[in-house]
Amino acid sequence: MTPIALITGSNSGIGLATALYLARRGFTVWATMRNLEKAHELRTIIESEKLPIEIAWLDVCDDDSLKSAVARILQKSGRIDVLVNNAGYGLRGAVEEVALDEWRRQFETNFFGVIRVTQAVLPQMRAQRSGAIVNISSVLGRFAIPFSGPYTASKFALEGLTETLRYELAPWNIKVILIEPGFIATRFQENAQLAQAAQHEDSPYAIFKKASGRRVQRNIYRAAPPERVAETIYRAIMHPHPKLRYAVGRDARLVLPLRRFLPEGLFERVLKKQLGL
Ligand SMILES: NC(=O)c1ccc[n+]([C@@H]2O[C@H](COP(=O)([O-])OP(=O)(O)OC[C@H]3O[C@@H](n4cnc5c(N)ncnc54)[C@H](OP(=O)(O)O)[C@@H]3O)[C@@H](O)[C@H]2O)c1
Repeated sequence: MTPIALITGSNSGIGLATALYLARRGFTVWATMRNLEKAHELRTIIESEKLPIEIAWLDVCDDDSLKSAVARILQKSGRIDVLVNNAGYGLRGAVEEVALDEWRRQFETNFFGVIRVTQAVLPQMRAQRSGAIVNISSVLGRFAIPFSGPYTASKFALEGLTETLRYELAPWNIKVILIEPGFIATRFQENAQLAQAAQHEDSPYAIFKKASGRRVQRNIYRAAPPERVAETIYRAIMHPHPKLRYAVGRDARLVLPLRRFLPEGLFERVLKKQLGL
């Protein structure tokens, strides 16, 4: 039986790479996205390689798009074996400067979007008594940096949600997995939003923000390709007993053990030095 995968945010970056990776390894992939006009790159590759990928509209903040996407998948493919909750964006700004509406929008996509799609898919996976749910978190789901409060908080919340799901879904043989990438070479940084108030020159945080911004820019050049994340997802879902967490990228594999084993105060000092704070 051909396994069926549903991926959110598949027009770009990690979602696009994962759609291609799974399709090239025998999955039928439902590559979903909120803006079908951005499907151009994916369509070109599907046609040239004749890949088993279907494209569908799914905005993780929109119930109607979700209902119609899941109905279409079940009608055409009859099952869903893998869900990759990938859609997400970063919101920057000091906690004080980010308006509540901006916080809510960040959580609506990165956190409630995951719950919304997962709830829609679970009845089918439970009926099958099998499946895998892969949540794309971040190293920032494990430790915080300044000026990324909304993003970090959304990924911390996602980590807690995923741990819970892992216990709850074990009786149905549904695997639940967290992927924790470091810097990945995608459009993530250019798609990241800056809070309205943080855009003012007279922001009291401007000087600190510049210092950590420069550090981020330097690290981008060491970013791992999105295919590395796709390969990790594939390895995890194919494993009969996958781990809860998978770090991706050299930076993630270095920093996450430090986070785990260093005393908190020491980790904080190391990070501050790294960030130039
Ligand atoms: N790149 C990194 O360094 C990095 C590191 C750690 C974790 N991650 C995580 O990896 C995931 C994918 O990011 P990426 O690096 O591949 O960045 P990306 O190239 O910006 O891709 C993000 C994808 O999410 C989609 N999206 C945003 N809001 C959506 C919504 N409401 N409904 C459906 N799709 C939506 C975007 O669609 P549009 O094109 O329409 O905006 C885009 O397809 C995110 O969850 C991110 O937090 C990335």
